[in-house]
Amino acid sequence: MSSSKVIQHDLNTIADSIAPLAQKLSGKTLLISGGAGFLGNYFIGAIDHLNRHTLSKPCRVISIDNFSTGIKYRVEEGPNFKAIKHNIKEPIQIDEDVDYIIHAAGIASPKFYRELKIETIDVATLGTKNMLGLAKEKKAKSMLYFSSSEVYGDPDPRHIPTPETYHGAVSCTGPRANYDESKRLGETYCVAYFETHNVPVKMVRPFNVYGPGMRLDDYRVIPNFIASILKGTPLPVYGGGNSKRTFCYITDAINGFFRVLLSEHHGHPFNVGNDQNEITMKQLAEIIVELFDSNAKIDEPPGLNDAYSQADPKRRCPDLTKMRTLLKYEPKVDLRTGLKRFMDWAIEAHPEYAKKAYPLTIV
Ligand SMILES: NC(=O)c1ccc[n+]([C@@H]2O[C@H](COP(=O)([O-])OP(=O)(O)OC[C@H]3O[C@@H](n4cnc5c(N)ncnc54)[C@H](O)[C@@H]3O)[C@@H](O)[C@H]2O)c1
Repeated sequence: MSSSKVIQHDLNTIADSIAPLAQKLSGKTLLISGGAGFLGNYFIGAIDHLNRHTLSKPCRVISIDNFSTGIKYRVEEGPNFKAIKHNIKEPIQIDEDVDYIIHAAGIASPKFYRELKIETIDVATLGTKNMLGLAKEKKAKSMLYFSSSEVYGDPDPRHIPTPETYHGAVSCTGPRANYDESKRLGETYCVAYFETHNVPVKMVRPFNVYGPGMRLDDYRVIPNFIASILKGTPLPVYGGGNSKRTFCYITDAINGFFRVLLSEHHGHPFNVGNDQNEITMKQLAEIIVELFDSNAKIDEPPGLNDAYSQADPKRRCPDLTKMRTLLKYEPKVDLRTGLKRFMDWAIEAHPEYAKKAYPLTIV
């Protein structure tokens, strides 16, 4: 169980938001890949919370992670939680029944997928094929594949907000192609396994999910800016800071992911995110300065204005009509509240920074 008050509060929120659906997990076994990562740890924490407070019979969780970018688990191993160290690009044998599968393993941060180019492709393609094979063998009730909003590439402005029906504008050789194209092929595998073997798989395309538990050194934009505030260094805004994004707080995202996993929409992709507050990276930096340290500086380092930065999608905003209509999903946490929760957690988790004494108002 996490010792963080912010995370405990989040797990409570998630459990409440999926309470009516959650009984489907009672007495079942759920296998997750990438359980030691940001999203994986929230899934495992949410099920641990449901086991303690909601489910009539506990849900057993098996996690597979090779720790290529994950840090550690927040739930300890025991009768309801087993952790396996394994690279999911290799097949794996599981000697017990599995009812649900979540394939969340991936190299999610640009910092790492630029370094681990081939591993990034392998986990989204070979890893997905291996997990689909397991879902077929175990006759799983449902499988969830973590694709990405990056499958849309740099969308034509006429398709923003972007619906699931948009096919994307993606380079197969550009600096982001190893991530974007492998996520796309992962989805193609999912549809092929559904159509050929009737594997009840669904795909989620998350749009910039953030929250407690992200590595402060993983260079995704929110942890990067928050880490700068904590260290007292300027917030680095790359490539002019004009790219626009929407951000989805973790409790809303996990609620959406569970809704998809526990649905009957086999073979379907779903956007999961927050369609409010589409902002530029410069505006995001300004909000973070305003919230946490009005003396902090914003910097525009020249060095990173490279091919990768130039390939940065200009806008990213989900059309959530499908999630709202079919799964009654509604994101609730506004950006400022989510950022404050992130900062509260960052100080809980890194007490060396507590001396900066931000007003911790959320928990
Ligand atoms: N967080 C987001 O905003 C976001 C957005 C779009 C897509 N996604 C996707 O969601 C999934 C989870 O993202 P996250 O933010 O939790 O990332 P994360 O980096 O925090 O976690 C990913 C986990 O997968 C593990 N992993 C990587 N390669 C592996 C392999 N070959 N075998 C076994 N384990 C492996 C890592 O060690 C890590 O623990 C990823 O597939 C990511 O691409 C996330």
